[in-house]
Amino acid sequence: MLDRADQDDEALAAWWMPFTANRQFKSSPRLLQRAEGMHYWTDNGRQVLDGAAGLWCVNAGHGRREIADAVHQAMLELDYAPPFQMGHPLAFRAARALKQVLPPGLERIFFVNSGSEAVDTALKMARAFHRARGEPERVWLVGRERGYHGVNFGGISVGGIPNNRAAFGPLLAETDHLRHTHDPERNRFSRGQPQHGAEFADDLLRVIDRHGAERIAAVIVEPVAGSTGVLPPPAGYLERLREICTANGILLIFDEVITGFGRLGAPFAADRIGVTPDMITMAKGLTNGAVPMGAVAVGAMMHDALMQGPEAAIELFHGYTYSGHPAASAALIATLAIYEREQLLTRGATLEPYWQDAVHSLRQAPGVADVRDLGLVAGVELEPLDGEPGAKGYRALCAAFAAGLLVRVTGDTIALSPPLVISENDIDELVDKLRGAIATAHGGQ
Ligand SMILES: Cc1ncc(COP(=O)(O)O)c(C=O)c1O
Repeated sequence: MLDRADQDDEALAAWWMPFTANRQFKSSPRLLQRAEGMHYWTDNGRQVLDGAAGLWCVNAGHGRREIADAVHQAMLELDYAPPFQMGHPLAFRAARALKQVLPPGLERIFFVNSGSEAVDTALKMARAFHRARGEPERVWLVGRERGYHGVNFGGISVGGIPNNRAAFGPLLAETDHLRHTHDPERNRFSRGQPQHGAEFADDLLRVIDRHGAERIAAVIVEPVAGSTGVLPPPAGYLERLREICTANGILLIFDEVITGFGRLGAPFAADRIGVTPDMITMAKGLTNGAVPMGAVAVGAMMHDALMQGPEAAIELFHGYTYSGHPAASAALIATLAIYEREQLLTRGATLEPYWQDAVHSLRQAPGVADVRDLGLVAGVELEPLDGEPGAKGYRALCAAFAAGLLVRVTGDTIALSPPLVISENDIDELVDKLRGAIATAHGGQ
C-alpha cells in the first residue's frame, strides 16, 4: 500500500490497474489502507462500510486472525511445494475439507488460482471427458448472453459481455450463447427469484438444433449473473436447463465464483435452488479473499472417466505451478472452519427477509429503475443518463465512497454483496448511505 508520501506520479503510474479507468483513477485515487470486520479504512483514516465483501469474496468479514495465523504457520513450515508429480499434506486436507461443504456428488477437486482459471479448467475438462468416453466430436461450449466467466480466452468466449471481448480478436471457435434471462417488463422489482422466464431455458433447444446435441460438450452459466448487474435466475429456469442438459448428454457447469460459500443463504447456489450441476467452478469466498485460489469440483464419474490408460500416464495435461499452494490451502481450511463455527454458509437465509425489505425500500429513491435480490445479494439499477450509459453508476460509486460506503458498480447497476457477518444495523446504515448516494448521483444530472 502506498504511504501518502509516495503518492507521486511515478508510483501511481507503475501499477497498470485491472478493470479500472486508470487515468481517471490516478487523477483522484481511492486508496484502502486497512480492514477489519465490516469496514475498510482509507489512507486518510476514513471508515468505509463494505457493501461488496471486497469484490464478492470476504464472506466472513475482514481481518480474520485465524486465516492469517494459518497462512503464516504454513509459510514457515513449507513455503512452496511443486504440485506436479509431488504433493503436500495441506492441499489434500484442503480438498477433503472442501468436499464436505460441496453439494453431494461433487467430490473430486482440482485447485487453481482464480475464478478465470477455474472456468478455463472446467471447459477443458468437459471436452476431455467426452473425448475419453469416445465422443470427441462433443466440443461446443455454450455460455449465455450477459454472462461473466472471468477474463481468460475460454471464459471470454463463453462469456457474454461485449466489452470484455471487443479488443481481443478471434476467440475460441465452437462456442455459442443462450439468450439472457433479463426480462424487466415482466419482472421489475421482483423479490427473490423472478416469477417469469423459466422458458428462457428452452433457448438451449435452439442451440441444440443448430449444432446437434451430439456436438455440444457443456453449458456454463452463473446461477445468479453478477458482473452483468445482478440477475437472479427465474423460478424454474435452472431446473429446466438441468433437464435439457441431462436429456442430451450435455454437461452443466455452474460458475459459482460469486454464489458459492453462503452468498445465497446456502453453501452453494446448487443447494439453494436444488439443482446439482456436473461441475462447479469457485474462487473468492473459498479463502475469504485472503489468498488467491480457485477450484473446480466434479463428480466421481467424470473424474473416473479420465483415469484411464496406463497407470504411469498423466491423465490430464493441465495444471498450474501454484495449484494447491500451501498458503492458499491453509487459508481455505481456516476459512471453512470459520464458516462452519459461525454458520455463515446459511446465515444469509436468516437475514434475507430483513435484507430484502431494506434493499427494496430503495425503490422510492429518485431514478431507480429496478431492484433485484437473492440471498445476500442485491442489484439496484439506476435510470441511465441520456447518451451516457454507466456515468450515473460511476457517480453513485463515488458518492457512496465519499459517504463511507463501498459498493460495486457495473454500468448503471449498483451491486451489493456485503460480508455475511453483516448485522441488521449495518444493513440499515448501508441502505441509508446508498439512498443518499443515489440521490446525489441523480441530482447531479
Ligand atoms: C461468475 C464469475 N466467474 C469468474 C470470475 C473470475 O474470477 P477471477 O477474477 O478470480 O479470475 C468472476 C469474477 O468476478 C465471476 O464473478
